[in-house]
Order: sequence, then structure tokens, then C-alpha cells
Amino acid sequence: MKILADSLNKEKAILLQEIIKNSYLKTIDDKIHINLKKNEIYIINNNYKVPSIISINHNKILGKKNNSIFLKLFPKKNSTILDCTAGLARDGYILKSLGFNVTMIEKNPLLILMIRNFIKKNLISNLTLYHGNSYDFLCQTKKIYDYVYIDFMFNKIKTKSLSSKNDEFLKTICNDENNKNMIISKAIKKCKLRVVVKEAKYSKNEFLKPDYDISTKLIKYNIYNGSCK
Ligand SMILES: C[S@@+](CC[C@H](N)C(=O)[O-])C[C@H]1O[C@@H](n2cnc3c(N)ncnc32)[C@H](O)[C@@H]1O
Repeated sequence: MKILADSLNKEKAILLQEIIKNSYLKTIDDKIHINLKKNEIYIINNNYKVPSIISINHNKILGKKNNSIFLKLFPKKNSTILDCTAGLARDGYILKSLGFNVTMIEKNPLLILMIRNFIKKNLISNLTLYHGNSYDFLCQTKKIYDYVYIDFMFNKIKTKSLSSKNDEFLKTICNDENNKNMIISKAIKKCKLRVVVKEAKYSKNEFLKPDYDISTKLIKYNIYNGSCK
């Protein structure tokens, strides 16, 4: 991974270099460039013939028709949602914009830097972000959430249409999670209404048996009833 920074971001670049050196991010190839320019953070992924640019700029995704699935998954208005897998904060930001009070957890330090920058630049409220492992968070927190949302990286996808440049980038820079079902079990105990776990519809079934599911053409949302009443 290479960091390219302008003079305004020199200190941030040194800190990031240190973080990369001390984490699994050090194994990622030099074709991934992190650009720190003025108040922008964006990634150039040179693993393609035409390099792809990844940044967090979610304003364009609001109001899209397919966001209405979230109102089906989370029917109680203005409720609290714990998003255990923030990623690029796309879903977290849509949920916040639909009026939910969202807390996100992300374990990847580069994504944390990108999301923090997005939140700060756009003066976003009602969107809390913590850096760490959601399993540890769930073990320690005393808080009970109305809903818990989990979107692990898809393993086997038969249809390529689910895989965007953002997903490909996330796969390049993130470790796969190996205690998925332990996270789901803990989440059920910290949740009043539903734990929702996103899965590609045609993937190999790897999660605990859900109470039921809500499906779209390509995605299956596994639903587990929360155990806190
Ligand atoms: C498929 S992405 C989520 C994309 C996200 N829903 C979005 O809208 O941008 C999965 C993310 O979950 C994170 N993740 C996986 N297991 C985690 C864990 N136990 N704790 C915190 N983050 C985790 C990964 O680092 C990755 O960024």
C-alpha cells in the first residue's frame, strides 16, 4: 500500500504509515494508493486496466428506490441500530438518513480513517463510529439496540452483478471474519427486535438457522428475533 499526501496531510500520513506497518494492511500490495489531499481521502486501486477510484461520498445514494428495503427490514421508526460491519458506511449512512439512530463498528483502521473524514467533512450527526471488533463490543456493551445489522463480506457469489468496485476493494483490504456465528449469537442477546444478517441469495449457507428471512432478487436477509424484551 502506498500513501500519497500533500503538505497539509503530512502528519496524518506518518500516523497512517505506522498503523499500516503494525497491522495486516502491511501485506497489501503497492497497487493500492491512499491519497490524502486537502480534506479528501480516496483510494486508487491500480489492480485493473482502468484504475478505480474509491471514496466515501454517499450523498448520491440517498432517495434511491432500492433503499426502501431498509424500511421493510427495520419497520420501527426512529429506532436504534447497531451496524456491526461498517465497511464504507454506505448502509449506515442510508439508515441514518432514514431517521434511525445508528452506531457503526469497523475493525479496519483505513476504513475508520475514511469514514471519520466523511463524518467530519459533512458535519453528520446521529451516526456514531467505533473502531474495533464487533464481537468484543457486543461482549462489553451494556446497551441494548432495537436492531442489529450485519453485512459480512460475501464469500461465494454466483452472480457478478453483486460485486461492485467498492466490494472488490473491501475484499482486497479486509480480513474475512471467522467467528461470524458467534457475533450473531451475541447480537441476538443485545437486541430487542431483530438481528438482520445480509447474505448473497445463492451463496453457500454459512450462518445459524434464522427465524425467517426477507429476500430480494439477489439478496437474502436472515432475520433472528432479538432476545431482549
Ligand atoms: C461487506 S463490508 C460492509 C459494507 C457496508 N455494509 C457498507 O455499506 O459499506 C464488511 C465490513 O465488515 C468489517 N468487519 C467484518 N467483521 C468485523 C468485525 N468482527 N468487527 C468489525 N468489523 C468487521 C470488514 O472489515 C468490512 O469492512
